[in-house]
Formats: sequence, structure tokens, C-alpha cells
Amino acid sequence: MVERTFSMIKPDATNRNLTGKINSMIESAGFRIIAQKKTRMTLEQAKKFYEVHKDKPFYNDLCKFMSSAPIVVQVLEKENAISNYRTLMGATNPYNADAGTIRKEFAISTTENSVHGSDASETAAAEIKFFFSEIEIVG
Ligand code: CMP
Repeated sequence: MVERTFSMIKPDATNRNLTGKINSMIESAGFRIIAQKKTRMTLEQAKKFYEVHKDKPFYNDLCKFMSSAPIVVQVLEKENAISNYRTLMGATNPYNADAGTIRKEFAISTTENSVHGSDASETAAAEIKFFFSEIEIVG
């Protein structure tokens, strides 16, 4: 089933000029980038985006980091895009990520792990809506 997922290239990666290299890995893996823009979250927006983690010990540091510099937000389309993109990203902690994954290649730490991808179809729909209007998703 052709599916959409939400992807975010995080501040550690935009700071190091890695957007092109990450997009190349995404496209080489067969995803179409059907919407994309560079933006920067305020601390409040980052807190809202990651609200599900609000009780976790890393929440404050994560939100501070995610609002520290620009991000690139994307909608990706592919067969089984949600699980396929999580495979391409690799484990949250880059130390545990498989060779050939984005996080193995580029991530610095568990927080500064270069990319985010949705974990389920409901989250994908909500995260896409958080950043994009229908008119911005061009296919
Ligand atoms: P992401 O896929 O964006 O989803 C939640 C983020 O929280 C995750 O990537 C990491 O950046 C961060 N995160 C998850 N677990 C931890 C942890 N144990 N310590 C620090 N940051 C974490």
C-alpha cells in the first residue's frame, strides 16, 4: 500500500549541511519527497510537537535542541513508507543503528540523531498536519 509518512531533518544535521546527503539516501531508498520546507520551531512549538514525551526525563533538552536551529520538514511517499522510513533512519541511539542507516551515518547522540520519522499512521497524519496545509503537498 502506498503510504505517506512525516520526516524531519533535525538541527544537528541542518547545522552540518547534511540535508542534501540525507535527501539522497531518502530518494535512493525509493521514497518520493512530495512536500518539503525549511523552518524553525519556537520552544513552544517543539514542546507541542513532542508533547507525547512530556513526562520523559529528556523532554526539556529535546525541545531545547529541536528549537535551537532550522529543521527541514518533509512528507515522504512510498509503499509502507512509515515502517520503511524507520528502517532507513536506524535505531534512535546511533550506537545501536545498523550500517547503511541515516543515523549510523550521521547522528551524534540519542537526542542529536539527525532525523525523525512517524511511528504509526495516526501520528503520521497528525505530524503532517502540524507543518503542512493540503495545498503544500504536491505529490
Ligand atoms: P525522535 O524519533 O524524534 O522521537 C523522540 C526523540 O526523543 C528521539 O528521536 C530522540 O531525539 C529523543 N530521545 C528518545 N529517547 C531518548 C533518550 N533516552 N535520551 C535522550 N533523547 C531521547
